[in-house]
Parts: sequence; structure tokens; C-alpha cells
Amino acid sequence: MRRQAPPDDECAEIVALRATLERQRAEDAAKERELERYAADLRAASRRERQVSRELRETYTLTVRALSNAVEARDAYTAHHAERVAAYGAEIAAVSGLVLGEEPQIEYGFLLHDIGKVAVPDAILFKSGALDDDEREEMQRHPVIGEEIIREIEFLAPARQVVRHHHERWDGTGYPDGLAGEAIPLAARVFALADALDAITSDRPYRAARTLAQARETLRDSGGQFDPRILAAFEDIPDRVIDGIRRGAA
Ligand SMILES: [Fe+2]
Repeated sequence: MRRQAPPDDECAEIVALRATLERQRAEDAAKERELERYAADLRAASRRERQVSRELRETYTLTVRALSNAVEARDAYTAHHAERVAAYGAEIAAVSGLVLGEEPQIEYGFLLHDIGKVAVPDAILFKSGALDDDEREEMQRHPVIGEEIIREIEFLAPARQVVRHHHERWDGTGYPDGLAGEAIPLAARVFALADALDAITSDRPYRAARTLAQARETLRDSGGQFDPRILAAFEDIPDRVIDGIRRGAA
């Protein structure tokens, strides 16, 4: 049986539908290309932003290191001290799972902890004997002076608490504010232990460096000076890691 041809107006309708579909496809493809271009622009902008922020962070770190080196240049005995303390502190924080806030900020605080010593006279800073009461008082002003020095620098705002509180003690007998326990900012508590470790294992004008084993013993017997959680985390760090940090900084 012969199939009947569709009427002319039906054919015209099909042709028009096909044309509409074709137009629609072309419009969709154009939109898709536009979206792809937009996504590529966004990716490029984000890459540029990451690059700028990386460069800014490197500049900050170099500036902080330069300041830290300027402080240490006064005293041959403290060479690389801030760098080692920063590395010990980062290791203790990593082992104990402590969240110290934004890492570079804490590193900045560790590197600049003694910046206030620029205001301490040489006669006091390098005195070989014991300090008298007035000299001790003068020396103990350095955390507050340090905080003042960096107060106006916006990017160092979180680092200020390490600078101000790095001589506080867990038992409340430290300075400048006599804070105790968890009232002491966490980063300053980590710093205190890292600082003591480096002091014990470094040469001083009045004594030779002690071994890591001796340092561990001294820190263990330090009474209430350090946060017990941080002390326990330090005990978990193997000797080879501490030695590696010492060699790296040297
Ligand atoms: Fe200090």
C-alpha cells in the first residue's frame, strides 16, 4: 500500500521546527563557550592572586628575618637562636596536634620574641655576673618594649602575643603580666619550652652547651615552669629530629 505524503503545511512546520532547534543549539554552544572563557578568566585571576599573596608572604618573612638577624647581630652567643626556636616550636606544635593559629604569624612571633632587647643597654645585656635588682627590672622590660615596637605593624598583630608573653611561666611566676596556666597564649607556652631547650643546649659566656639528654632531664625537672601537655609533646620528639633542627640552623 502506498504511503500518503504529508500535506505541505505539515512539511513547513517540520522545517521551521528544525530551524528553531538549530538556532537553539547554536545559542547554547555560544553560551557554553562564553562560560568556558569566564571560567578560564577566573582561574587566571585566582592564579595571579595566589602568586601575589605568595610574594607578599615571602616579603613579610624576609623582613621579619632581617629584623630578627639585626637583634641577634648584637650577641654572638645567640646566633641562629630565633631560627632554631621557631623550628623547635613548629615541631612541638606539630607533634602535640596543637592549633597555633596561622603558622607564619607564629613563626614571626618566635623570630621576633626578643626584639625589645634593642632597648636594653649593652652593660646589662652582656654583663657576665648576676644582674642587680634595677638591672633585672630593666632587662625584664624587653617583652613590653618589643610589643610596642611592632604594635603599628598590622601583619604582625597575631605575633604580638608571643613577643609580650614569651617570659610568662605556667605557674604564674613569670613576667611581664604574671599570667598562669591557660591564660598564657598557647603560642607563648610552646615558645617558652623551645626557648629553654635552645638556651640549655647552646654555649653561653659562663658555661658550655649541655647535651640533649641533660636538657631533657632539666626540662623534666623544671617544676611548674612549663605547660605539662607541651612538655609531654616535647618528650615524644625523637633526638634525631631535634639534632636535625640544630644542624639545619647551623
Ligand atoms: Fe626574651
